[in-house]
Amino acid sequence: MTRFPDLKAMFYASFDESRAATLLSRLAPLSESARRSLAQFIGEGSHFQSFELVASPLSLAVNIAKTSFTKGGDLWVKRWCEAIARARQIEEDTLVPPMTVIHHAGLTAIVMPKGQDVGRDCAKLLNQKLVLTAKALGHAGLVMDDYPQVRQANGVPFIVDWSDLALVD
Ligand SMILES: Nc1ncnc2c1ncn2[C@@H]1O[C@H](COP(=O)(O)OP(=O)(O)O)[C@@H](O)[C@H]1O
Ligand SMILES: [Mg+2]
Repeated sequence: MTRFPDLKAMFYASFDESRAATLLSRLAPLSESARRSLAQFIGEGSHFQSFELVASPLSLAVNIAKTSFTKGGDLWVKRWCEAIARARQIEEDTLVPPMTVIHHAGLTAIVMPKGQDVGRDCAKLLNQKLVLTAKALGHAGLVMDDYPQVRQANGVPFIVDWSDLALVD
């Protein structure tokens, strides 16, 4: 039985675009380096910095594109947003989390549930979902050129790192 619909409902109950926009307004004037010392800072990779937005019933991760990502230009970011929009269509039964992209204060961010490490008890479900996800992305004309980084929320595993998602064509 999939518990995904629960996560989706909880995500949309928790997501308030104006609160995410307020966070982006606060972070925009700061350098990427200065943002690392904030209490909300969760972590970062080469392309995104992740910040916690405490909310109920789920806390959220607001993952802000770094300049290493946006330097690709507006067209590049637009294509990536199109790829995310397409991935959102295949949320169910895959490792695609409920997520949304917001642009505010000159920043681009992707918002999704904040996840925790996946326990070993989740390994079988995870392997099944990795296969389903790869197939579903392929069918949707998408490619994810990265090892999937998975976390879980409410018992549901999902991929958190979408920086390498791209349209095939
Ligand atoms: N939804 C999330 N829940 C918990 N931690 C997250 C989430 N999204 C991102 N992170 C943390 O932020 C880090 C950087 O995000 P990620 O999307 O992997 O950036 P990059 O594309 O630059 O590698 C991740 O390695 C993870 O530790
Ligand atoms: Mg990445």
